[in-house]
Amino acid sequence: MPRIDVLTLFPRMLDGFLAESILGKGLERDLLSVKVHDLRAWTTDKHRTADDRPFGGGAGMVMKPEPVVAAIEQLQSPGCKRIYLTPDGVPFSTALAAGLARESHLVLLSGHYEGIDQRIRDTVIDMEISIGDYVLTNGTLAAAVVIDALSRFIPGVLGEEKSLTHESFTGKLLDFPQYTRPAEFRGMSVPEVLLSGNHAEIEKWRSARSLEKTKKVRPDLLK
Ligand code: ADE
Repeated sequence: MPRIDVLTLFPRMLDGFLAESILGKGLERDLLSVKVHDLRAWTTDKHRTADDRPFGGGAGMVMKPEPVVAAIEQLQSPGCKRIYLTPDGVPFSTALAAGLARESHLVLLSGHYEGIDQRIRDTVIDMEISIGDYVLTNGTLAAAVVIDALSRFIPGVLGEEKSLTHESFTGKLLDFPQYTRPAEFRGMSVPEVLLSGNHAEIEKWRSARSLEKTKKVRPDLLK
């Protein structure tokens, strides 16, 4: 069972996420284990200081090395992967999610403020991941995104194993449109072919729609 420890200054941001949906079921059924830790538990002064001003000047505050390094040294295990969520990390992807799902122990560090002391990265971080080219106020939601995406690759988390193979990015095209009942809604009919029962024709139609959509919104995927 993959074990995941999340280190954050905002542990409650993950309460709803962990309780709900498919992931909540996976946790209930012990298919994975996620523990959230408040970084301030490793601070030692009475103000529970986790950040300080940057040497060399500049705006914002920087996360201090002592509490973070102490926390990771306590949580880590031999062979675990220690990951820092940061906009300057390597881009997150399906391939990365699938790889992380095979690890036995992950420690996810959520950053805050303008960044973290470089010595944290140099000593207790194995990998840095960005979930996209935008800046969040802290990395906690990024950690949630990584956990959610990798949980889909843990056997049994998804109800129907098959549903994984049908979705975007496991191949390299975007999804085709889906329809369910009613067959007519506000004057809009479901494409005839989907009601035909002709599986070869349905596959052909779906492939064409996938290609069309990919050309339109993600031409980069076709290169
Ligand atoms: N922390 C702030 N922004 C982030 C991003 N885009 N990805 C990962 N961690 C982050």
